[in-house]
Amino acid sequence: MAGWRIKPFGSLSGPDTGSGLRRTLGPVHLTLLGVGSIVGTGIFVLTGVGAERAGPGLILAFVIAGFVCAMAALAFAELASMIPVSGSAYTYTYATLGELAAWIVGWCLILEYAIAASAVAVGWSGYVSGWLAAEGLALPYVLSVGYNEGGILNLPAIAIALATTALLVIGTHESARVNAILVALKLGALTLFVVFAGPSVEGANYTPFMPFGFGGVMSAAALIFFAFLGFDAVSTAAEETRDPQRTLPLGVIGSLAICTLIYMLVAAVAIGALPFERFEHSEEPLAHILRALDHKLVGDIVAGAAIVTLPTVILMMLYGQSRIFFSMSRDGLLPPVFSRVHATRGTPHVVTIMTGIIVALLAGIFPLDEIAELSNAGTLLAFAVVSGAVIVLRVTQPDRPRGFRCPAALLVSGLSIAGCAWLFVSLPELTMIRFAVWIVIGIAVYYAYGWRRSPLGAATP
Ligand code: ALA
Repeated sequence: MAGWRIKPFGSLSGPDTGSGLRRTLGPVHLTLLGVGSIVGTGIFVLTGVGAERAGPGLILAFVIAGFVCAMAALAFAELASMIPVSGSAYTYTYATLGELAAWIVGWCLILEYAIAASAVAVGWSGYVSGWLAAEGLALPYVLSVGYNEGGILNLPAIAIALATTALLVIGTHESARVNAILVALKLGALTLFVVFAGPSVEGANYTPFMPFGFGGVMSAAALIFFAFLGFDAVSTAAEETRDPQRTLPLGVIGSLAICTLIYMLVAAVAIGALPFERFEHSEEPLAHILRALDHKLVGDIVAGAAIVTLPTVILMMLYGQSRIFFSMSRDGLLPPVFSRVHATRGTPHVVTIMTGIIVALLAGIFPLDEIAELSNAGTLLAFAVVSGAVIVLRVTQPDRPRGFRCPAALLVSGLSIAGCAWLFVSLPELTMIRFAVWIVIGIAVYYAYGWRRSPLGAATP
C-alpha cells in the first residue's frame, strides 16, 4: 500500500540537504528558543483552570504532564540526533513508519503549532484587553473576543499573530536575538513570583490535596500539558542549527528541564500561598495571587511581563509550523509554494506569511480553552508516534550512528506512549470528537494530493 512507503534515510539525513536555510543557531540560542516556546499561556493563564479542576492536586498534574513530556523529549532527542533535518516528528515518522503515518503526524503538528499559536494569541489578548481597560482605553467588547465567544473579532489576537509573523519573515537570527531578551524577562517574572509569593506559603492550603479525586488531577494534567508544548519546536530548527547532532538534544532536553523546574516551583508556591478557590477563575492567576498578597506592584510587573513575553511563544509556534509545512512541501505532500525560500533573507517567507494569516484568523474567532485542548490532542498523538519510531529504529537500524542515545529506550518510549494515551483519554469528549474529524479530513487530503504527488509515489507506485 502506497501509504506505507518509507523515505530512505540517505535522502534526508546529512546536514546539507540544499534547502537554502541558513545555519545560524548554536546551543544557547536553541535552548532559549525552546524556553521561549514553552513558558507561556500554560503557566501564566491555564494554572487557574487547572486549579479549578484539580485543587492542590494541580501540583501532581504538573508532575504527570511533565513526566510524560520528559519521556517524549528523550525520544525526540534521539531521533533529532539521527535525523537532523527540519520537520521534527513528521520527518522522523517518514523515515520509520511510512508516508501515511508521517502525513498524519504532520497533520497533527498543525494542531500542535498553528492552533497553539492561536491559543497563545488569545491568551495574550486577554491580558492586553485588561490592561487597556485599566488605562481607560477599553476596546469595544465585540472587538476584543472572537465570534464563538459572543464578539465579532478578537482584534488584539489578530494583531499579535500578524506582528510575530512579520518578525519571522525578517529572519531567524534577528528573531532569535529578540527572543533571548524576552525569555530573560519571562523567567525574571516567574522568579519574582516565587520570591514574593513564596514566604506566604501555608501547609493548610495543600489539604485536602485532591478535592476532586484523581479524575480531577488527570483532567487538569490533560489541559496543563499545554504548558509543556514547545520543546520539540527546537528540533524543527535542525537545518538552521550548527552541529545539529550535538546541539539539538541539548536544546530539547535542556529547555524542557529548565521549564519543568520552574513550573514545579511556581505551581507549589501558587497553591501554597493562596487557597486555590481564590484564583481559580482569574485570567491572570499569578498576578492575581501577588495582588491578593498585597504585592500589587509586583503583580503588575508579572502581568506586564506576560504581555511583553507571550509573543515569544507565538513566535516559536509559528516558526515550527512554517518549518514543518516547509518539509512536507519539499517531500511533495504539499504544493511547492510551501517550501519557497527568500533569495536574500534565507527564510521560507511564503509559507510563514500564509501560516501567520491562518493563525491570526483562528485567533480572531475561537476561545482559548477549547483550542488549547485540541492542540494537546494533536501533540499527544505526535509524541506517541515519535516514541514508537524510536523503538522501531532500534530494531530495524540498531547500528546507525546516534549522536544521542535515549537511556533505557524501550522503557522510556513505552512510558511515553502509555502516558500520552492516558492524557488523551483524559481530555473532554468534545475535543476527542473534533480531533477525530480533523484526522479524517487529513487522510482525505492525503489521498487527494500527497499520495499522487509524492516523489516516493513514482518510485513505489
Ligand atoms: N507551552 C506553551 C504555552 O504554555 C504553548 O503557552
